[in-house]
Amino acid sequence: MLEKRLRCAKLKDKIMEAKEAAKFFEKDMVVGTSGFTPAGYPKSVPLALAERGEKGEDLGLTIITGASVGDELDGALSRTGVLKRRYPYQTNKDSRNKINDGSVQYSDMHLSHVPQWVKYGFFGNIDIALVEAVAIREDGGIVPSTSIGNSNVFVEKADKVIVEINTSQPLALEGIHDIYSPENPPNRRPIPLTRTNERIGTDYIPCDPDKIVAIVISDIKDKTRPVASIDDVSKQMAKHLIGFLEKEVKEGRLPENLLPLQSGVGSVANAVLGGLVDSKFEDLTIYSEVIQDSALDLLDSGKVTFASGTSLTVSPDRLDDFYDNFHKYKEKVVLRPQEISNNPEVIRRLGIIAMNTAIELDIYGNVNSTNIMGSKMMNGIGGSGDFARNAYLSIFTTQSIAKNGDISSIVPMVSHHDHTEHDVHVIVTEQGVADLRGLSPKERAKTIIENCAHPDYKEQLMEYLSSSLEKSASKHLPHAMDKSLSWHKRFLEQGTMKIK
Ligand code: COA
Repeated sequence: MLEKRLRCAKLKDKIMEAKEAAKFFEKDMVVGTSGFTPAGYPKSVPLALAERGEKGEDLGLTIITGASVGDELDGALSRTGVLKRRYPYQTNKDSRNKINDGSVQYSDMHLSHVPQWVKYGFFGNIDIALVEAVAIREDGGIVPSTSIGNSNVFVEKADKVIVEINTSQPLALEGIHDIYSPENPPNRRPIPLTRTNERIGTDYIPCDPDKIVAIVISDIKDKTRPVASIDDVSKQMAKHLIGFLEKEVKEGRLPENLLPLQSGVGSVANAVLGGLVDSKFEDLTIYSEVIQDSALDLLDSGKVTFASGTSLTVSPDRLDDFYDNFHKYKEKVVLRPQEISNNPEVIRRLGIIAMNTAIELDIYGNVNSTNIMGSKMMNGIGGSGDFARNAYLSIFTTQSIAKNGDISSIVPMVSHHDHTEHDVHVIVTEQGVADLRGLSPKERAKTIIENCAHPDYKEQLMEYLSSSLEKSASKHLPHAMDKSLSWHKRFLEQGTMKIK
């Protein structure tokens, strides 16, 4: 069994227990790990590092990943104080708490920036690359598991490489990866990718075997997150979105099989993409970061013919079935480094329809995707900015209310900015669609309130708009500065945004 997974003879004596491999980590090291939206992240070595932290050792590691990773990494290292600094995205409850209380320094970054920052040296030296793999080839090449993220760049740049060969991940994954690493400027060439299903690189991460200092055998499964069942509100959003896309086709602005689709993370994004299963669209393609349950449903139904991503994140309920029947997806899926999946050049060239989720948005079309009430980090911007800024069509979805209606997700002014009005073309809530293309700020405000706000907040939003117009009638983008963040203040003080 292991011969098939570890095929490089000279590396056989590098096999060791996780505890031994964990000894390579020293205080204040910068570590790049595999992992993207809890898929394909290392598990055994982080748990061994957490044990060192539990015993009181002050390791203070900087951890850079692709995106979110499972509890064995973010959770265990946050709880034991091993994690000091974190880039670029997380979704773990314990790491989120440590980030919010300031004991972990977190820098929330566009995911496409991370690999080039590593290559440019902006993070300093990368001491160790810790990556999960399904196999190591004869020449030392590493075959990643369910995600690539930044693994290839970490392996390229780190002083030392530690590989976790995970036997719970099917060896059948070999062949679905396509590794390509652009040169740094001034030698960068155009990325030769013109179709979602093209391959431009190798199906393994090239690695000098002499760089690999430890190999750990693990069988811990990806701890992916369950997705919420698709409720009526999400179904309504999906219906509006599909209606909008049908109209775009009818009016000749999109081809009949649309353009490659990108869908964000979370329950809303999963539900919205899932809605396409029952649509009339055929022959669709996906060019996204995460291939999640709804994308598999679309592949199963034949609606989607090909999906390109950087991770395969399958919910716990269907993970075993996915592993057992992986062969049926093999020819229809490719995983790329996030430097390619999220690359602005490629996104612009392919003409992606980007569908991302907002926490809140304002009447002028600015979007907050990260900080609750302007201050409390939820997850991070992830790749939403990479896609929204460069998309053919940038769509944001959100429920019009949150917390049983005490919060309106449409507010006078966002409490934190992730996506500015310039990168938001269309807004979809369960109430309807606001097509903002070409509208001035005052027109945008009316369109958003009329089409997307919850009935409980429509009047209140119109009143805000009127009072802003009164106070700054001759202004391009009217705001009543004494009131623009008063909705958030009211919620924090009184538990509701509603004026009683
Ligand atoms: N104000 C305060 N809280 C709000 C809110 C608002 N306007 N809207 C939603 N929330 C809360 C919800 O109540 C929920 O809270 P809970 O965890 O206490 O239950 C939480 O935010 C998540 O909301 P939910 O409706 O379940 O959203 P989701 O699972 O679809 O996730 C995002 C939404 C925005 C957090 C998520 O999509 C995200 O992290 N996006 C940024 C990264 C990204 O887009 N990456 C994709 C690029 S490919």
